[in-house]
Amino acid sequence: MNHKEILINKICNKTAIVGVIGLGYVGLPFAVEKGKVGYKVLGVEQNPKRTQMINQGKNYILDVKDDELQKLVEEGLLTAQTDFSSVPDMDVIVICVPTPLTKNLTPDLNYVESVTRSIASYLRRGQLVTLESTTYPGTTEEVMLPILEDSGLKVEKDFYLAHSPERVDPGNKRYTTKNTNKVVGGVGPESLAVAVTFYRQTIENVVPVSCAKAAELSKVFENTFRAVNIALVNELTLLCDRMCLDVWEVLDAAFTKPFGIMPFYPGPGVGGHCIPLDPHYLEWKAKELNFNTHFIALAGEINRKMPEFVRDKAIRILNHSGIASSKARILILGIAYKKDIEDERESPAIEIIKLLKQEGADITYHDPFIPSFNEHGIQMDSTPLTEETLAAADLIIIATDHSSIDYQWVVDNSRRVFDTRNATRGITRGREKITLL
Ligand SMILES: NC(=O)c1ccc[n+]([C@@H]2O[C@H](COP(=O)([O-])OP(=O)(O)OC[C@H]3O[C@@H](n4cnc5c(N)ncnc54)[C@H](O)[C@@H]3O)[C@@H](O)[C@H]2O)c1
Repeated sequence: MNHKEILINKICNKTAIVGVIGLGYVGLPFAVEKGKVGYKVLGVEQNPKRTQMINQGKNYILDVKDDELQKLVEEGLLTAQTDFSSVPDMDVIVICVPTPLTKNLTPDLNYVESVTRSIASYLRRGQLVTLESTTYPGTTEEVMLPILEDSGLKVEKDFYLAHSPERVDPGNKRYTTKNTNKVVGGVGPESLAVAVTFYRQTIENVVPVSCAKAAELSKVFENTFRAVNIALVNELTLLCDRMCLDVWEVLDAAFTKPFGIMPFYPGPGVGGHCIPLDPHYLEWKAKELNFNTHFIALAGEINRKMPEFVRDKAIRILNHSGIASSKARILILGIAYKKDIEDERESPAIEIIKLLKQEGADITYHDPFIPSFNEHGIQMDSTPLTEETLAAADLIIIATDHSSIDYQWVVDNSRRVFDTRNATRGITRGREKITLL
């Protein structure tokens, strides 16, 4: 048997050892999924607090079930370490590290390059390396492949390399890793065959594409599609504000059309690790080809304006009650970038806090998922949500529509509510206190 056949055999009979590099929102659920079907999983995670927690069977990611992680650790199917010395023991190496942007909105591939170099120094024949991180088309072949081949091994002959973008939607109970179709592109046919076999072991529907670049572009397009459509409804929101129309009513009416339209909703801005960042990866790559991605630039511009619109509308609401923003006490309800998750990265709520603090307002926040945060130079602790804290605020701004909050109770106990998510949709009492986005 050649390297490929041996590896495919190991993958199919579950004796392959799976390495997961980066155990965050993507990597840890992925590691647990693989462990659950019987693979031994070796994690590499640079944060020692995280490796320590995993090795003690303790969970830190909401989408992972505590008992499932604990069981895998007890059975010896999941361990984690901070260094790469276990790479030679791995048959499949899955990279799930961050792909942020620099301050100038250009791709920062430092994490991907650094882990690829560490893997290359331990690479052996018969391994599959796959990249799950979202990135621009060309990363796997143009950035990772040369680093891996510096080891002296040849792709397609000695080792295999593929890209399979992660699509996990944190907090989504209906679509998990298992039942979300998975796109896979190899740098060649051998790599594709091994990678497809690997992903088919745990995912119901694997979608092979002709090359790694196609897989990379498909993922960035998906996030661009969301960014553009969110920008479209956000722009409509700005127009409705000028026309004194309720954008939520307009959208509800439009979405009754049973074909040719798809619901997207406005909000205080876009957040998270994906939608605000990933389209700029494509925008940057397109520039290399002297091509301008107009939709991406425009969507980014509109979506980034939304926190300023929220600030301005909040000031208007306060002015109408004769309260100067510099004297106002404002409670921000929800910091997470979307509902029912514990992730505040790139959250527009934090930008809104920053802007309102610049106006001199006294800001507190409450988020049941985020007891404290320290982002963009702002450090704050969540304040308890009580009748007293609600009554003490001149304005409540609902920035995230967490499901566990009783919004009728919030409205009952508040003086004014600015609802940027239409969380108060079903509320009947006290509607006169509510202003929608
Ligand atoms: N979070 C999502 O919803 C989501 C969804 C789809 C795709 N993605 C993409 O997946 C990738 C990972 O995102 P995430 O949300 O899991 O990020 P994350 O920050 O939650 O996790 C990344 C982990 O990698 C670790 N890490 C960083 N450098 C390392 C190194 N040199 N060695 C070992 N570990 C290292 C970090 O400590 C962290 O624990 C990104 O490209 C992201 O765009 C994320």
